[in-house]
Amino acid sequence: MASKHNRIAVLGAGKMGGILLQAFLQSKLVAAADLSATVAHDERAAALSYKFGITVSTDNLAAASHADVILLGVKPQQMDALVHTIAPALKPGKLLISFAASVSTAAIEAAAGQDIAVVRAMPNTPAKLGAGITALCRGRFVSDEQLALAEKIFATVGRVVTVDEKHMDAVTGLSGSGPAFIYIILEALAEAGVNVGLPRDIATQLAAQTTYGAAKMVLETGSHPALLKDEVTTPAGCTVDGILELEEGGLRVTLIKAVKRATQRARELANP
Ligand SMILES: NC(=O)c1ccc[n+]([C@@H]2O[C@H](COP(=O)([O-])OP(=O)(O)OC[C@H]3O[C@@H](n4cnc5c(N)ncnc54)[C@H](OP(=O)(O)O)[C@@H]3O)[C@@H](O)[C@H]2O)c1
Repeated sequence: MASKHNRIAVLGAGKMGGILLQAFLQSKLVAAADLSATVAHDERAAALSYKFGITVSTDNLAAASHADVILLGVKPQQMDALVHTIAPALKPGKLLISFAASVSTAAIEAAAGQDIAVVRAMPNTPAKLGAGITALCRGRFVSDEQLALAEKIFATVGRVVTVDEKHMDAVTGLSGSGPAFIYIILEALAEAGVNVGLPRDIATQLAAQTTYGAAKMVLETGSHPALLKDEVTTPAGCTVDGILELEEGGLRVTLIKAVKRATQRARELANP
């Protein structure tokens, strides 16, 4: 099970890796002495080491040797070379967790050249505020205990769901790309507020808190979104007129197409 005795290394600590390092320390998932990271450039290693008070180097093999759980955060096209490099440090019992988009657990197992436990994770950027959602899937050699440990690790940055690996591209298209889709909706709502006479800062707050509140209602009441929508929609009222415009404008179909297209792109990147 997860314990503070697990030594964790984040190899490729860029934007997402940095968010994770911060969350691991803040949540006390692991002590600073048991956490390390790598990057490509020496000066970035020094800056990160100073910022977090942990060991950060450019030596992936050394970092992997000293860790029980190894998170892989390089770009998808760099993953194969990274896993080859650390292969001599891998042994049964160690857990690899990749959070690179589009790289399969089978590809990582093959690059490692051994029966090693590989979990694949797809977090999203609201992880920065602990409001992310991460989808996990397990490779062939992952025990229930190792999957539970991966869940505990990603719970430090928000919600966690577990899916079959075949769904990971769909997750990328929905919750990975999703924040960008929602920002556009939110920006448009704020713009609409300005259009009907509201000051921009007030319109942005109204739009953002409304988006947040509606999402919280779905998550915490467990009610179907359609039911919650019906509760806001009084007969012959204002909302139903607005909904008619949304339907005429094709918002629903457009969002469905956006997620389908992003999923398709994730699939293309996985199988170039
Ligand atoms: N950003 C997101 O929203 C998000 C969400 C889910 C998944 N991901 C996945 O997370 C991964 C990283 O994305 P990112 O946005 O965090 O990119 P990023 O900021 O560019 O981070 C990549 C990091 O990898 C380091 N690096 C490159 N080659 C290395 C090597 N050989 N050894 C060790 N470190 C190396 C870079 O070091 P330097 O800093 O020294 O250049 C950089 O810090 C990608 O695979 C992406 O698919 C990202």
